[in-house]
Amino acid sequence: MKPATRKKAITVLLVLLIAGIAIQFIRPDLGNRPATGDLAAPPEVKAILQRACYDCHSNQTRLAWFDQPAPAYWLVVKDVREARKVLNFSDWDSLPKAQQAGKLYEALNQIEFHSMPLSNYAALHHGATVSPEEVTVLRQYLWTLAPKAVPDTSKQRIALQQFASRIKAPADTAAVKITYNGISYHDLAAFGDWKAISTTERFDNGTMRVIMGNDIAVAAIRQGQTHPWPNGATFAKVAWDQLPDSAGEIHAGAFKQVEFMIRDNDKYAATDGWGFARWVGGLGLKPYGKDAGFVTECTNCHQTMGAFDHVFTLPVADTLGLYDQAAYLPDSVAAHPLAGKVITSLVNHSHGRTLMSTLYGNDIAVKSARSGQPVYPAGSVLALVTWVQREDPHWFGGRIPAALTSIELVSVGPGAGTVYSAYEGMPLVKKADSSAVVQERIQYITSRKASVFP
Ligand code: HEC
Ligand code: HEC
Repeated sequence: MKPATRKKAITVLLVLLIAGIAIQFIRPDLGNRPATGDLAAPPEVKAILQRACYDCHSNQTRLAWFDQPAPAYWLVVKDVREARKVLNFSDWDSLPKAQQAGKLYEALNQIEFHSMPLSNYAALHHGATVSPEEVTVLRQYLWTLAPKAVPDTSKQRIALQQFASRIKAPADTAAVKITYNGISYHDLAAFGDWKAISTTERFDNGTMRVIMGNDIAVAAIRQGQTHPWPNGATFAKVAWDQLPDSAGEIHAGAFKQVEFMIRDNDKYAATDGWGFARWVGGLGLKPYGKDAGFVTECTNCHQTMGAFDHVFTLPVADTLGLYDQAAYLPDSVAAHPLAGKVITSLVNHSHGRTLMSTLYGNDIAVKSARSGQPVYPAGSVLALVTWVQREDPHWFGGRIPAALTSIELVSVGPGAGTVYSAYEGMPLVKKADSSAVVQERIQYITSRKASVFP
């Protein structure tokens, strides 16, 4: 090395060294304050979260030696700050009880998706990943936090009042505020007339849900073009309180919220090509979130479904199969169950196996049911579609339809002319029921109360 070159190299090294030392003095505060109200959970549950999550999601961040020097330190502080903002086990008591349970269910699901702990952290911090045995421990604990499905007369009263007030005065869609990203409720208000793509029972938060799709979404399903979903495809997910009765059947109670995902690759490029919006507070329809930042909550969770274009609901085999199964049914649009709009959804835990159903109707039937008419007028066609239920493989806390078990059709004629027909199994085969059973099923199907759509 020539002396001049050597001198240059030494200068560069010295500058780097000084810079390296200097940046050590730029140390943003980690803010390790004392916990105000730490998570209260059994010791075996807490131990798992403390080991794998508390470094980022609590005020008690323990830094490993290799986290200490800047710039590594800066990255750690950034992660910790972001992590505490969305989930902080040290401020646990500041969350309402239901939200605490919700965060824990989300935490478990993030673990199961291998989204948490963050992969760069898990790679460096030995033993931070959560083992399958530990996942079982967490699951068992979370079961105990799920609301119990028991009859509740006050919830029933609230549901009835809401139904009555909805009949009196439908939501004024023009008055409902838009969300922060400019999505207008008014433009989406017809979602109650969209087709149901699937249904979920969420035992983690005691709700029943129906996922509806607009015409573009439904056409995409029919053509098998759901990856990616085409621009314009829009989903609505509607949630109602669960209303369990004493016979073990769960009905849809008060309407709680509706949320949307709108596909537009250009407009919503920053949020994975989907526009997200949610209105809460029952028929009050308040836009969700404090500001436009609410959407990171949606994307954080929906990103776990990245391999499915960020959509959880898979209109797969059994649910989608209904389109094919419908080919076995009488060839009339009215009788095609998915051509109908949703009247209500049901879950039945009383037959040894768990069944879930959606009741669809043609326009006459839906109008009558939603306006609270006591009897269906002639011309009404109802279809009760029933599936065996299974755990949602993508969400611990949800149950979704598996194999189709039956389709029951009721066509209300003038006078005593009401016709019932039932199809069972795969492929669907017409059942021959005794007239007593037929009368009982007609009575059952026509007396289900409609779910409240705002
Ligand atoms: C190295 C830091 C780090 C560790 C360790 C970590 N997280 Fe996170 N976590 C984050 C950051 C940063 C975010 C926010 C941005 C994101 O999702 O990437 C986050 C977001 C979350 C969210 C989303 C919360 C919301 O409402 O948006 C959940 C849930 C979560 N983490 C659970 C966990 C669980 C459970 C563990 C332990 C098994 C864990 N995290 C470990 C850094 C961490
Ligand atoms: C904690 C995880 C989580 C968060 C946060 C979340 N979702 Fe979802 N979302 C789900 C799950 C799980 C489903 C599947 C249906 C079900 O189980 O209820 C779903 C389904 C949906 C659907 C129906 C289409 C689909 O993907 O299946 C829409 C629309 C939707 N969510 C909108 C939103 C909006 C808007 C937000 C933010 C305000 C949001 N979600 C935040 C978990 C989440």
